[in-house]
Amino acid sequence: MHFFLTTSRIGFSKWQKGDIKLAELLWGDPDVTKLICASGKFSVEEISSRLTTEIDNETKYHVQYWPIFELSSTNFIGCCGLRPYRGNEYEMGFHLRPQFWGKGYATEAAAAIADYAFSVLKADALFAGHNPNNVASSKVLLKLGFRYIGNKFYEPTGLYHPSYELKPKL
Ligand SMILES: CC(C)(COP(=O)(O)OP(=O)(O)OC[C@H]1O[C@@H](n2cnc3c(N)ncnc32)[C@H](O)[C@@H]1OP(=O)(O)O)[C@@H](O)C(=O)NCCC(=O)NCCS
Repeated sequence: MHFFLTTSRIGFSKWQKGDIKLAELLWGDPDVTKLICASGKFSVEEISSRLTTEIDNETKYHVQYWPIFELSSTNFIGCCGLRPYRGNEYEMGFHLRPQFWGKGYATEAAAAIADYAFSVLKADALFAGHNPNNVASSKVLLKLGFRYIGNKFYEPTGLYHPSYELKPKL
C-alpha cells in the first residue's frame, strides 16, 4: 500500500475508483454518519457519489478526505483531509470507523493534515464545523488550535453548526 503521508501510527492513501467496498465500510455505518447528514444514513447511491466527489476533488484541487490506515495492522481507520472551501482556504474533516474512536487517531490525523495544508498547499486558512451534538469533534478542533468563529447553517443536516478557523503559525 502506498502512503503519500504518514504520522507515527497512521498512513494516508488516496481514494481510487475501485474503493467502493472501503467507502461502504465507512459511510455505510450509521454510527459514522449519524451526525453528518439529516437522515443520519447514507444510501448506497450517496456512498458512491461521495466516493466520486473525493476522486474528483483530488483531480481538480489535489485534496480529498483521504482514506487512512493503521500502520501497525494496515486496517482501514476511515478518512481525514480537506475539501475546497473558498479562495485558498480548505475545509477540514474526519470520519473514523467506531472501533478506532477514543485512541487519539482523529487528533493525530488532523494535526498532520493541518501541517500538510499550510506547508505543502500553502493554505491561507482552514475552516471546520461540526454538528452541535458532536462533542468529540469540538474537542479535536480545539486541541489543534482552531478558533470558534460562530454558528453557520449546514445544509446537509439542516442545523447551525459551530464553526472554526485555523490560521498558519507565523
Ligand atoms: C469525531 C471523531 C472523528 C473523533 O475521533 P477520535 O479518534 O475518537 O478522537 P480523539 O480520540 O482524537 O479525541 C476525541 C476527544 O473527544 C472525547 N470524546 C470522544 N467521544 C466523546 C463524547 N461522546 N462526548 C464527549 N467527549 C468525547 C475524547 O475523550 C477525546 O478528548 P480528550 O483528548 O480530551 O480525551 C469520531 O468520533 C468520528 O469519526 N465520528 C463519526 C464521524 C463524525 O462525526 N465526524 C466528525 C464530523 S464533523
